[in-house]
Formats: sequence, structure tokens, C-alpha cells
Amino acid sequence: MTLENKVALVTGAAKGIGLATARRLAELGSTVVLSDIDRDQGAASAEDLQSQGRDVRFIAADVSNPDDVDNLFKQIENEFGKLDIAFNNAGIEGRLVPIDQATIEDWDQLIGINLSGVFYCMRGEIPLLRAAGGGVIINCSSIAGLVGTAGGGIYCASKHGVIGLTRAVAIDLATEGIRVNAICPGAIETEMVSRVLAERPEQRKVIESMQPIRRLGTPNEIASAVAWLSQDDAALVTGVTLPLDGGWTAQ
Ligand SMILES: NC(=O)c1ccc[n+]([C@@H]2O[C@H](COP(=O)([O-])OP(=O)(O)OC[C@H]3O[C@@H](n4cnc5c(N)ncnc54)[C@H](O)[C@@H]3O)[C@@H](O)[C@H]2O)c1
Repeated sequence: MTLENKVALVTGAAKGIGLATARRLAELGSTVVLSDIDRDQGAASAEDLQSQGRDVRFIAADVSNPDDVDNLFKQIENEFGKLDIAFNNAGIEGRLVPIDQATIEDWDQLIGINLSGVFYCMRGEIPLLRAAGGGVIINCSSIAGLVGTAGGGIYCASKHGVIGLTRAVAIDLATEGIRVNAICPGAIETEMVSRVLAERPEQRKVIESMQPIRRLGTPNEIASAVAWLSQDDAALVTGVTLPLDGGWTAQ
């Protein structure tokens, strides 16, 4: 597998799934733009990859801010003139509360980042993918985009929305050589899960028991799937929602 001469964007790339994927795409030969709201961690992660000889840059952007997102794509256009691979990964878990206890602010923040953020990024990505003569968008949904999870009403709404957007746009762009897919991670060992488990450590065993493989996934396992979807061997794959969940949603 090679991604030589490709330009890739990964949002939410300062750590976790985004960083593991940025690293993998760069190892496969792609130039990778890491983007994140966290300037310090994002810049540090990019410097770390550069020190390993990878061709990466960091551009700060809050995906829920349309001006930030416009600026991100202006910079990519000015420097590269095209984009081949976009992994719309930035997301938050928000507050896990029953919907009748959720606030308007909870809704606006989660939907703003997890769903509107994907929309803003796709608007910026499509012209640059066209300029490349085709390419691939991979949106990060979740098993919470496929099934309901307790206390996760808004998160589930955002991640179900990402799948709807993915499917519709995949159809729109199919004849232009632009593939659009969604991945649906189960429980993956990142700071996001650590934050959730910090409040309820007893939930680790419950989460492990929900995944038939009886363990959490790793960011590298998500990176492997994104890398495969990114390359031309996956040319027939568009509009799919790919569970990466150790069998959680097979039950
Ligand atoms: N970890 C899991 O178990 C799991 C499961 C299913 C889906 N996901 C999804 O995977 C994606 C990555 O999650 P993770 O586990 O790596 O989380 P993480 O918290 O470890 O990393 C998320 C990254 O996104 C960045 N980010 C947050 N808000 C942003 C914004 N407004 N603009 C730009 N960047 C922003 C953060 O600064 C951070 O670097 C998310 O979309 C998440 O919903 C994670």
C-alpha cells in the first residue's frame, strides 16, 4: 500500500485516533496536514512526526467555526492546490446525560462540532478533491451512529447525522471519482474513553463485555482501516458505514 504524492487532511489530529491515522498516512508516503483546535498539542504532535522524517504540517482550526475552516482550506489550497484524502475525525463526547437533563448549550456544542464540523469541512474539501481529479473523504461516525447508547442522545444524533450526510454525498459525488465513507469505531483506547471512565471506572468491564472481542480497540486499528479506505484498491467502496467495533453491532 502506498500513498506517495497524496495530500491528506486529518482533523482532530493532535492525539488519539486522529494522530494515529495522521502518522499512518504519513508513513505510507502521504503529505499530511494535521489540524486541531488544540494548538500546543497539535504543533507538538506535528513536530514529533517531522522529527521522524514525515512530511506533515499543523494548521490550527476549530471545526465548529466556519471562518476557521475556510482559513484551513485556503491555506491548503495555497500550499498544495489540491487534496486527495480527508479524514473528518474531530469530535467530542459531550456530557453523557439523559436528554431531559441536557441543555441547549449541550446540543449546540455537540452538534456544532460533531455534525456541523463535518459539513463545514466537506464543503471545503470537495473543490480541492475535484482539483486533484478525485479522492476520498472518510467521516468519523461511531457505533453511536448505528445504535442508541444510554445517556448519549445528542452524541447519537450527531453521529447518526454524519452517516446520513456520508451516504447522500457519496451518491452525489460517485461519478466524479470522489468516494465518501464513514467509519464507526466501537470503544477505542483514547483520552475520550479515559475521560468517560474517569467518572465511572466500573464501566470499563461493561464496555469490554459489549465488544465480543472482549477488549477495547486501539487507535492504530482505526488507522489501518482509514489507510485502506484511502487508497485506490478501495475504488469500489463508497457510501459505506464501516463498523470497527470488535463485533459490538453484530449482536
Ligand atoms: N474513542 C472512542 O471510543 C471513539 C468511539 C467512536 C467514535 N469516536 C470518534 O473518534 C473521533 C476521535 O476521537 P478520540 O477518541 O481520538 O478523541 P480524543 O479526545 O482523544 O481526540 C479528539 C481530538 O479532537 C480535537 N478536537 C475536539 N474538538 C475539536 C474542534 N472543535 N475542532 C478541532 N479539533 C477538535 C481534540 O483537541 C483532540 O485532539 C471523534 O469523532 C469521536 O467521536 C471515538
